[in-house]
Amino acid sequence: MVPINSFNKLIEIGSYEECRATADWLLEHTQVRPTVGIVCGSGLSALGDMLKDPQVFKYCDIPNFPHSTVRGHAGQLVFGTLKGKPCVCMQGRFHLYEGYPIQKITLPMRVFKLMGVKTMIMTNAAGGLNQDYKVGDVMIIKDHINLPGFAGVNPLCGPNDDRFGVRFPCMSDAYDRELQQLAHNVAAELGFSNFLRDGVYCVLGGPSFETIAECRMLHRLGGDAVGMSTVHEVIAARHAGMRCFAMSLISNRSVMDYDSREKANHEEVLETGQQRAKQMEVLVSTMVARLDGDENEDKNSS
Ligand code: HPA
Repeated sequence: MVPINSFNKLIEIGSYEECRATADWLLEHTQVRPTVGIVCGSGLSALGDMLKDPQVFKYCDIPNFPHSTVRGHAGQLVFGTLKGKPCVCMQGRFHLYEGYPIQKITLPMRVFKLMGVKTMIMTNAAGGLNQDYKVGDVMIIKDHINLPGFAGVNPLCGPNDDRFGVRFPCMSDAYDRELQQLAHNVAAELGFSNFLRDGVYCVLGGPSFETIAECRMLHRLGGDAVGMSTVHEVIAARHAGMRCFAMSLISNRSVMDYDSREKANHEEVLETGQQRAKQMEVLVSTMVARLDGDENEDKNSS
């Protein structure tokens, strides 16, 4: 039998060494030194097309990167500038339901941190649990409920590497309040306030959509929207001291009633994305334009 210690030399998934190797490879292959990272959710990849002087890397060409397997996710990393700010944008992300270990899903966050990213902006498509929400609303995520986390599925499980962050990171400030305020200010200027909400995002493992009983439970637990992404990335990003802002496009209303004939489906998620995507792009790019100096620093990180 091979003694366990002989595995120590193997590079662990999401380890400092693995992330450092990927970050160094990217730093060698691009001149861009991003301070802002953007993750595009289902149907929302067009945000990445706004980057000026883009340099594109397919996930399959980046050492240690997982590959995107979901329709509506381009599966590439774009470097460039957005309103003059150096950015890196993920066109497509990774999910638990694709079968990846959770540390692989969050590996890009650690890579971005090592490349110099200070602020992460994430988008996703989500089901609306809150009965006041309409399809096409955009919810600023003010907090989350990490259901896989309740069962021990958390990207920080395993040995902690202090070079990234502390063993027990605080999550009561997971979603940066100043960035939420900035989003509201920008939305008001752009005339977008009528479809903007603030709420709690519940993450599930997927890929099956929720049952009626599950939607009712999540709503009672305090969830306003439900989806299969973002939270793992936010946990890894916060652990590493990056500021996070996230928003959900409400692509469908969660079915809460046994008499309803509605059914959640992925096509609906993609279609809604196309309709609202343009406005979300303008919102995010205007926010990025206003991030500077102090605003791009996490004042709360220790
Ligand atoms: N449930 C889970 N994930 C989703 C949904 C949903 O209703 N809509 C978009 N992503």
